[in-house]
Amino acid sequence: MNTSTTVLPGQPAAIAPDVHWVGALDPDLRQFDIILRTANGTSYNAYAVRGRDGVAVIDTVKAEFADDFFARLWACCKPAEIRAIVLNHLEPDHTGALPALLAAAPDARVYLSSAALRMLKGIVKDGIDESRLTVVDADTRVDLGGRTLRFLHTPYLHWPDTQCTWVEEDGLLFSGDVFGCHFCDERLFNDRVGDFRFSFDYYYQHIMRPFREHVLEALALIEALPIRLIAPAHGPVLRDAPRNYVQRYRQLASPLLTFEAGEHEKTLLVFYISAYGNTERMARAVRDGAEGVEGVRVSLYDLAGGDPAPFVDLIEEADGLMFGSPTINGDAVKPVWDLLSSLTLVKVKGKFGAAFGSFGWSGEAVRLIEDRLRGLKLRVPRTGVRVKLIPTDEELAECRALGRELAEHLVGRAQPLHIDFSAPGALTT
Ligand code: FEO
Repeated sequence: MNTSTTVLPGQPAAIAPDVHWVGALDPDLRQFDIILRTANGTSYNAYAVRGRDGVAVIDTVKAEFADDFFARLWACCKPAEIRAIVLNHLEPDHTGALPALLAAAPDARVYLSSAALRMLKGIVKDGIDESRLTVVDADTRVDLGGRTLRFLHTPYLHWPDTQCTWVEEDGLLFSGDVFGCHFCDERLFNDRVGDFRFSFDYYYQHIMRPFREHVLEALALIEALPIRLIAPAHGPVLRDAPRNYVQRYRQLASPLLTFEAGEHEKTLLVFYISAYGNTERMARAVRDGAEGVEGVRVSLYDLAGGDPAPFVDLIEEADGLMFGSPTINGDAVKPVWDLLSSLTLVKVKGKFGAAFGSFGWSGEAVRLIEDRLRGLKLRVPRTGVRVKLIPTDEELAECRALGRELAEHLVGRAQPLHIDFSAPGALTT
């Protein structure tokens, strides 16, 4: 058996006494889940934890790497010894070898979250004996004999099903995607591999950041644990100063920006781009209208002069978002779409949104932006303002009203929407 700290083909790697890494290395991967670049490939980390009374297998690997996984697993235990199969996360990069493992260890119980239970049939298509399944909660204990597994409810890190597994006697946290990164290095441990900090932060930004509130809830659970080693589902095993990585998550999940607004102010960001100055005039009117609402800090940004990335940081912490775009060839313009497409990186659900814009003959941009905002689950309380070419004074007043109304929503002073059901289709405010 491999007792060195370098992963060898077909050999498990000890990460603690009677605890082995039985995962797979994928050094050639250059793109993960379509959206992530992986300059150093990745690893699919799975683990075997032995107690006096049997073995628990924690997660598996992507299907193409099942042979690597089973070679390592059978080198450190027999199928009949497996008492528990723990599913921290059902994404296929961790469950590709699950059907074969279920078949190879028919007496093993499967421990998973309630959300995972609802997903499992979509993953194990050839059926599963439901009498083998145990849905865990914070009180569940799996006693392996001298080693006890507990479970932390950490949903949305990175799917609704995700959980962490804690071995309390040894201070081992099997964290799933949390504290992982796409960084393949056969030296396995964080104190031996190359510098992977860029990948750790990149992984957080692209996988965890949209679920920042859930990250903070999970950190409250994890920070209370006397952790001695973190075994994530991707990347290096964190045996040296593991709490530093927990602290780094705390930093990454905390507000990024100096808080420019007062403690009790709401923030409204108005983004625009303008071909002939008409949408810009509308944007300034929107801002003027919003500024008249006490308790709202209003900012105005011309997308012609900015890269989306810093705006995404602003948006993450804002309360309201407004977008102004001309219509060109029946669409909003590319800088607006570039920013809107970046919003999947952060949580925008529940923020207030609105759109406005000048147009020449068709004017679809406002509706298309509104559709996108609703698709991202922003609240769009009123129809935006569309102006044919040069805005009149009356139309600029309408823009001011739009800004004022959205700002009033931010501070809870907007007039409630009344729907007269006696006049179908009629909406009055
Ligand atoms: Fe590594 Fe969300 O799967």
